[in-house]
Amino acid sequence: MSRQGEKLAKCYEYCRSLTDFKPKAGLILGSGLGGYAKNMKVELEIPYGDIPEFPVSTVQGHDGKFLFGYIGTVPAVVMKGRVHYYEGYSMEEAVLPVRLMKRMGIEILFLTNAAGGINRSFCVGDFMLITDQISSFVPSPLIGENVSELGERFPDMTHIYDEKLQKLIRKTAEEEQVALQEGVYLQTTGPNFESPAEIRMYGLLGADAVGMSTACEAIAARHAGIRVCGISLISNMASGLSDEELGSLDVQKAAEQRAGEFERLVTTCIGKM
Ligand code: HPA
Repeated sequence: MSRQGEKLAKCYEYCRSLTDFKPKAGLILGSGLGGYAKNMKVELEIPYGDIPEFPVSTVQGHDGKFLFGYIGTVPAVVMKGRVHYYEGYSMEEAVLPVRLMKRMGIEILFLTNAAGGINRSFCVGDFMLITDQISSFVPSPLIGENVSELGERFPDMTHIYDEKLQKLIRKTAEEEQVALQEGVYLQTTGPNFESPAEIRMYGLLGADAVGMSTACEAIAARHAGIRVCGISLISNMASGLSDEELGSLDVQKAAEQRAGEFERLVTTCIGKM
């Protein structure tokens, strides 16, 4: 077994010693969306810090625990807080939670994040259905010994974001009368925000929104055969596209203002999955 496979087995055994709950869907909550628990029937919480060798988030607004329970009637596991590459974890460590959720049973992963808008037709507070991604500016989470228990060495990333799940999200947003933008998410390492020239370049390359997470998780999930979908909440316009000082930007606060509607959309979508 690979080293990562052994680590994963340890984490899995610990979680299984606490519960035999088998989630079908996983949901990762982005900055400012941490109040999600009220939308689900929580059966059990596992703080990341209790899990042996599990990476623990150091970022404010990412308080770090798994919530196992039901979203509607769908058995689900929710990650309240994620770990980021910029915290100093390796990419492999950053995606360990995704792999653990796979071992626990998930078949679907719903990714959420707060992101900076690059597409000039976007406004702060918009929701963007992620249709594809650019992860070329961060290392692949699959570098190193392949975790062959999970997937193959050279996985296909042609359809990272599941077409059927995208359709379901579009339809649900329409029914719920929630405006939904669409676009390509680009991941940077962070933690610094981008320069205006970088944002112009990312725009030319086809990115509609930029953030410091998510794309690596989508890759690890696809590697493991999980169906992936995701929505970004545009918490600000990216560097050079507005007069706002990014240095004083409170991403969490910006996201919190739209959290209610965002949670409603996510909950309704997962309930149908
Ligand atoms: N850039 C990178 N990450 C982000 C941003 C941004 O403008 N906003 C929220 N996360």
